[in-house]
Amino acid sequence: MARKKIALIGAGNIGGTLAHLAASKELGDIVLFDVAEGIPQGKALDLAQCAPVEGFDVNLKGSNDYADIAGADVIIVTAGVARKPGMSRDDLLGINLKVMKAVGEGIAANAPNAFVICITNPLDAMVWALREFSKLPHHMVVGMAGVLDSARFRHFLADEFKVSVQDVTAFVLGGHGDTMVPVVEYSTVAGIPIPDLIEMGWSTKERIDAIVARTRAGGGEIVGLLKTGSAFYAPATSGIEMAEAYLKDKKRVLPAAVHLSGQYGVDGLYVGVPCVIGAGGVEKVVEIKLNAEAQANFTVSVDAVKELLVACKAIDGSLN
Ligand code: APR
Repeated sequence: MARKKIALIGAGNIGGTLAHLAASKELGDIVLFDVAEGIPQGKALDLAQCAPVEGFDVNLKGSNDYADIAGADVIIVTAGVARKPGMSRDDLLGINLKVMKAVGEGIAANAPNAFVICITNPLDAMVWALREFSKLPHHMVVGMAGVLDSARFRHFLADEFKVSVQDVTAFVLGGHGDTMVPVVEYSTVAGIPIPDLIEMGWSTKERIDAIVARTRAGGGEIVGLLKTGSAFYAPATSGIEMAEAYLKDKKRVLPAAVHLSGQYGVDGLYVGVPCVIGAGGVEKVVEIKLNAEAQANFTVSVDAVKELLVACKAIDGSLN
């Protein structure tokens, strides 16, 4: 059986890390595409030289030509600019919207059957715009945010409870921004919900509230430390988890920015909710009943995403 093909659009910090992870896991042959000449070629060659040491058998190619993504099974998009200290994800909107137009047209012309995972920020607006520009079916275009946000939440919770991260599950809804909604009632240690753990004396409401706030600002904390860019290891591994769910038809239940058509009372927007990802792309949106507080926070988050789309449409009239 021929190997699968993974195209990575954007060969920067996340793109390079994605390529290394995809190669180590032998997910398929890899094309690294970027507008910068030499960067994707250099990274592909460097990574190919890991193969004898790590023992993976995949082809790696760097390219500045969209023709090289032809036939890709999965495309992961990180093209664009990343945040610097003092910038919000929304500050990236104008520049990255133009990038999504070029990328969307490149995908439509060369790999219209791919499952596309967008990571570029501001995520909920960029994944929507990428879908509009590429015209791929909605269930084949998703945004990676929830896996990362819940990984951040799980890390902080495991640290608080002094238990393995493996036993912590977390539930995060809404847009990938400061309005995201970590839902404590659905976040657990080995199935025990956090409110029960508070009652058991494992933590306090105040400490959990602080963890929720730190999770919401999780990306900004890293930008502030790195100063020259934004997080890339955890975003990359989160993107790979989604790609693997599709390629191996795992039917993983993962939080992702998916197109909603009435679920959660939202129509025509990409917002973070749990969904099932398998060989059919987004196979199902998991629609749970939210308590009043989570619903109110979710509405605030959805409104923030709506505002971003208004801004996108003002910049590019073809999106109206
Ligand atoms: N087409 C392809 N690649 C592009 C384009 C384009 N039109 N415009 C820019 N790029 C490339 C850049 O040349 C760079 O190599 O995108 C790459 C981005 O890499 P980094 O600056 O290292 O950014 P990274 O940390 O990988 O983050 C990428 O993901 O999480 C988000 O906020 C983050 O939007 C940012 C994106």
